[in-house]
This record gives sequence, structure tokens and C-alpha cells, in this order.
Amino acid sequence: MNIAVIGIGRIGLPLAAKLAATGHTVFGCDISAERVEQVNRGENPIPDEAGLTDLLRDAVRTGNLRATTSTAGAVADCDTVLFTVAVDVDATGRADLNSLFAAAADVARGLKPGALCVFDTTLPVGTTRRELAPRLEGGGLRLGRDFSVAFSPERLLMGRVIEDLVKYPKIVGGVDARGGDRAASFFREALGVEVLQLSSAEAAELSKLSEGVYRDLNIALANELARVADVFEVDISEVIRAANSQPYCHLHVPGTGVGGHCIPVYPRFLIQGEGPSQLAALGRSVNDAMPGYVATRVEELLGGLAGKRVVIFGLTFRPDVAVTHHTNAVDLLREFRARGAVVHGHDALLSDEGVRELGFDPAPEPLQGYDVAVVHASHRAYRALDWRTVASLVVDARNALDREAIEAVGARYMGVGRPVSPD
Ligand SMILES: NC(=O)c1ccc[n+]([C@@H]2O[C@H](COP(=O)([O-])OP(=O)(O)OC[C@H]3O[C@@H](n4cnc5c(N)ncnc54)[C@H](O)[C@@H]3O)[C@@H](O)[C@H]2O)c1
Repeated sequence: MNIAVIGIGRIGLPLAAKLAATGHTVFGCDISAERVEQVNRGENPIPDEAGLTDLLRDAVRTGNLRATTSTAGAVADCDTVLFTVAVDVDATGRADLNSLFAAAADVARGLKPGALCVFDTTLPVGTTRRELAPRLEGGGLRLGRDFSVAFSPERLLMGRVIEDLVKYPKIVGGVDARGGDRAASFFREALGVEVLQLSSAEAAELSKLSEGVYRDLNIALANELARVADVFEVDISEVIRAANSQPYCHLHVPGTGVGGHCIPVYPRFLIQGEGPSQLAALGRSVNDAMPGYVATRVEELLGGLAGKRVVIFGLTFRPDVAVTHHTNAVDLLREFRARGAVVHGHDALLSDEGVRELGFDPAPEPLQGYDVAVVHASHRAYRALDWRTVASLVVDARNALDREAIEAVGARYMGVGRPVSPD
């Protein structure tokens, strides 16, 4: 089978390599000439993606995977076209679909009669049918008669995309009468994955947004409970462990917010347009307030932050993944600076240049003598730090650190919704 993957980024490239590894001929299409050249050399541009280096090298070596900037030319030979171009929110919080529209226009110019087009990128409900399918007709083919369209969200975690591609059921929903059936057959055959076929693209779109908003609201609830725990000086970790011992309670972990491409973005798709969700908006505002809340707690504990030396560790949005998209580390920087602190940033996965791009002054070596160390993304590399020499107060922004170990070396510990160690 000839398959085109449009957008060979964090999701599209592992998907393309996986399909190529199962023997299909795959064209990876991207507007980035640099990305295309790198892939065609068999070099992995996403080294923190588990298993991708070998898979990509083999896929390119066997000739099963070729990357190109010529999308229209590539799709002319393809029976199936998968879209994995990213959609983010713009400055007003609305979905910015322009990259996906441009990709759909490119595909329309080359689309082969009989092709199946599947949108894997998470979208506001109704976008596949109303906005994207009509754009695919731009080359003269008619939806339903000449080609089919379906929506099928990716349900993956960065860093383990290859594993997750076949781990969870692939949800599909069609736009035209045959779109759903064709997409279901494609994913069963091409990936050997279990498929959950829904009755429409809209149902599939809403299912993906439901997963995202569930997690965002759950974290918002955990954050509110953490703030109550602070009032009563109880430890929210203990509380959540107890509550979750009953099978109907699945409270997540509180922290200074939610970052990345997905969880902070998808609730906004439910806030805009028809059927706006009040809860989605509320959850966003609760989570967005957490960096300020944590900075205020530190300020109160220290009797002010003016002139205090603060270092923020782990600037990526998640531990051990070098992605800074919507990272809350920049919100922490803003909040600590607003209170007069002198803030440095450190990330074991980023260059000094990468640290600067986020607005931080890179922390000079040795990492010692700070008043406060805030651990945002707790990369494995930080496990070896001697907290006692780094800072007298360690703020665990994601409740991910070993409190006892920090206290054992004589540093104070402060988590989110967890009592501060005595002075
Ligand atoms: N990253 C995740 O963890 C994750 C998880 C689940 C689902 N998703 C979904 O996957 C989508 C893609 O995410 P990603 O992390 O792979 O994004 P990414 O930014 O890493 O990759 C997108 C790629 O698309 C390319 N591109 C942009 N415009 C194009 C065009 N007109 N034609 C061809 N290529 C174009 C970019 O150059 C880039 O390489 C997200 O929007 C999201 O809906 C992401």
C-alpha cells in the first residue's frame, strides 16, 4: 500500500516509520526542507522518541520511507493520506487551522481518485466535515464519489509514540458514507491495531476532546483540593492516595499547571464555537492560576522574594522530553520575577540557547547557593543533585520529588498542597 503522511513531526514521523516498517511504501511530506533532508539521510530528528532511531534508519535504508516537500506529487501515488500537521491555539485562544488548511490545499492538488484521507490531528468538533473535506474537493474530486474522509485522533504520549500507536484502540469516525469503514479497515490492516469505529467524524472529534478536557479538569480539581489542603496543613498526596483507593475515584496529581501540545490546548476547542463548555473554561483558569499561587506561597514563606536567588530546573513541559510547548516554566519565571526574585533557568535537555529562548538567564555552574530551587520538570538527570548545596528550599512544582531524600540532606521541601518542612 502507498501511504502519505502529511507533517512528519513528533507524531507524523514515528507513524510514518512504523507504517514503513510493516512493509508499506510511505511518503513523509513536510514543508520543512531541513526535516525532509534529515529524514532522507536516515537521521532521527527526535532522539528522545523511544525506538525511533532504529526504526527510521531501517525504513529509509529499505526505501520504504521517503520524505519530500512535494506533497501534491507524493499523494498522486497514494491510496491513503494521513494528516498529522499540528493545530495550536492563536493569541485569542481559538484553534489556528491555517497550517492544516494549507496542507489540505496541497493534497487536493494531487489527490488520487479513490483515495482515503484521514485527519489524525486533534480538531474542534465539526472541523473535518465543514472545513477540511470541502478543501480536499479543491482539486476537482468529489467527496463520497471520488474519495473518502475520516477523522481518527492520535492517542499517544510523546516519548513513547511507537509503543502507544498500537497500544490503545484507534478511534475512527467517517465523514462520507464509506469513510469510517475504510479508515477502520486501513488501521486494522496497516497497524494491526484494535479499532473503535464511531458513527461519525464529529463523535470521534468529541471523543478526543473529551479525553483531554477530562484530564485538564481532573488536574484542576486536584489543584483546588491542594489549595484546601494548604489551608488545613494536610498533605494532598496522602489525601489523594486514600481517595483513589476506592475504584470510582481517579484524582490526578496537583502541580503548577499543564503544558505541552495537547492538554492545555484541547479544552480551548470546547470553549470556542457551538456548545461552549463552561467547565472547560473554569478548569483552564484554575490551572493557569497555579504558577502565581505557588510563587505567592514561597513569597509568604520567605517573607518576600525581592532580591532572592531562584533557580528553576526542568524547563520542558514534561520530564525527560525535550519539548517546551506551552511549558509552565515560563509562567513560573514570570511570577517569580514579578515578585522581585532574580531567576535563573536550567534544563539538562536544552542548550543555553534553548534556555534563553524561553526568556531565562541560564544558571551558571556550579549550581549552588540559591535561596529557592523550583523543580518544574524532574528530569532523571536531576536525581544526582545535592539539594543541600543547591538551595535551602526546594519547591516541588509537580509533586514528583522524594521529599524524605531532600529533607534527609538538610534542605527544606515545599510541594503543591503539601506542608513545608519545618525550618
Ligand atoms: N505531540 C503529542 O504528544 C500529540 C499527542 C497526541 C496527538 N497529537 C496531535 O498531533 C498533532 C501534531 O503534533 P506534533 O507534535 O507531531 O506536531 P509537530 O509540530 O511536531 O509536527 C507538525 C509537522 O507538520 C509540518 N507542517 C506544518 N505545515 C505543514 C504543511 N502545510 N504541509 C506539510 N507539513 C506541514 C511541520 O513542519 C511539522 O514538521 C497535534 O496537533 C495533535 O493534534 C499530538
